[in-house]
Amino acid sequence: MRCLRHLRPNATLILAIVAFTLLLLFSLQLSPPTRKVQEQPPATPEALAWPTPPTHPARAPCQANTSMANHPDFAKQPKNVQDFLLYKHCRDFPLLQDVPPSKCAQPVFLLLVIKSSPTNYGRRELLRRTWGRERKVRGLQLRLLFLVGTASSPHQARKVNRLLQLEAQTHGDILQWDFHDSFFNLTLKQVLFLQWQETRCANASFVLNGDDDVFAHTDNMVSYLQDHDPGRHLFVGQLIQNVGPIRALWSKYYVPKVVTQNERYPPYCAGGGFLLSRFTAAAVRRAALVLDLFPIDDVFLGMCLELEGLKPTSHSGIRTSGVRAPSQHLSSFDPCFYRDLLLVHRFLPYEMLLMWDALNQPNLTCSKQTRIY
Ligand SMILES: *[C@@H]1O[C@H](CO)[C@@H](O)[C@H](O)[C@H]1NC(C)=O
Ligand SMILES: *[C@@H]1O[C@H](CO)[C@@H](O)[C@H](O)[C@H]1NC(C)=O
Ligand SMILES: *[C@@H]1O[C@H](CO)[C@@H](O)[C@H](O)[C@H]1NC(C)=O
Ligand SMILES: *[C@@H]1O[C@H](CO)[C@@H](O)[C@H](O)[C@H]1NC(C)=O
Repeated sequence: MRCLRHLRPNATLILAIVAFTLLLLFSLQLSPPTRKVQEQPPATPEALAWPTPPTHPARAPCQANTSMANHPDFAKQPKNVQDFLLYKHCRDFPLLQDVPPSKCAQPVFLLLVIKSSPTNYGRRELLRRTWGRERKVRGLQLRLLFLVGTASSPHQARKVNRLLQLEAQTHGDILQWDFHDSFFNLTLKQVLFLQWQETRCANASFVLNGDDDVFAHTDNMVSYLQDHDPGRHLFVGQLIQNVGPIRALWSKYYVPKVVTQNERYPPYCAGGGFLLSRFTAAAVRRAALVLDLFPIDDVFLGMCLELEGLKPTSHSGIRTSGVRAPSQHLSSFDPCFYRDLLLVHRFLPYEMLLMWDALNQPNLTCSKQTRIY
């Protein structure tokens, strides 16, 4: 301004200069954000790829242990037993679908971990809507996860992989690995989950491990577990003792001598549904690293417990072989039978919905004699 006075410029010029200066200041104020963007170094390929998960170098698929086929009894085994023997050393499979980090960001009280076949979409949907719904029960957080492998035929696998991708995006509850989802690979599924849990959800106080065709009374489970310390041993379900391998070829549970010579199984809980504490999950995880995989998943967990010097126990509210009506005058579908139970095996999908609805009726009244334990 001082220099302007010396020059004695006319008023129009002053106005023009002021207006120009204001414009300049205004444009300087506005421009920095745009420039800053222009000044940034060009994005690196890694930066552009974010936030898609880092791509792992393609892993070579695990090779069959062909020396297994030299066993004199190998050739006469059914295909599932042969597959088990050839591939049981394989434990490292790529994760195809993961859950968001938020799954276990807040303390999880009860993690519902459900083994499901890739095509069981309807069962998963139903669980999400009924007893598996992620919610707080008495202020304690419940979270839901489905453990899934892949279909065996490449065509079917492409279809269900896309389905599971959609489910994962919508619900964030799918853990899928790239291995063939079969009955004799359920132990592999269990072991892969335990490994995943160690780094991703080790803080869950309790885990319900189960199948997608059980009805779990999750509210009752929370009440039951509230009396337990997650830092101490807990492994409860329907206890099975004093049994051994079934050597009859026709059985779903057929286990030949080439798999195990042992004629007895350790005590274990039926795989339909059982509860374990954080302490026991860690113990089982340790043991699973040492033991050879065994084709029957619930027996394998019994073996892990035995190795750790721990025992599974029975809970009368866990009925993996179903419930019988205590009297012929009452239907076994009466919600009052289920009101005090923790878990019951085998429900049809529509029954699951009806039972959940009935148990949540605020006016559900049951007389004493209908209680079954
Ligand atoms: C393959 O099987 C043989 C027994 O038939 C066993 O001794 C060997 O350790 C197995 N190899 C692997 C990689 O598991
Ligand atoms: C388990 O999965 C692996 C990997 O897909 C497969 O090679 C193997 O045959 C499967 N085992 C059984 C018993 O289905
Ligand atoms: C939760 O887990 C992390 C590691 O996974 C551990 O550092 C932390 O102490 C755990 N917190 C509780 C409350 O157990
Ligand atoms: C509970 O009450 C609702 C309406 O208030 C009724 O429709 C329903 O039938 C009742 N359920 C039972 C089990 O009594």
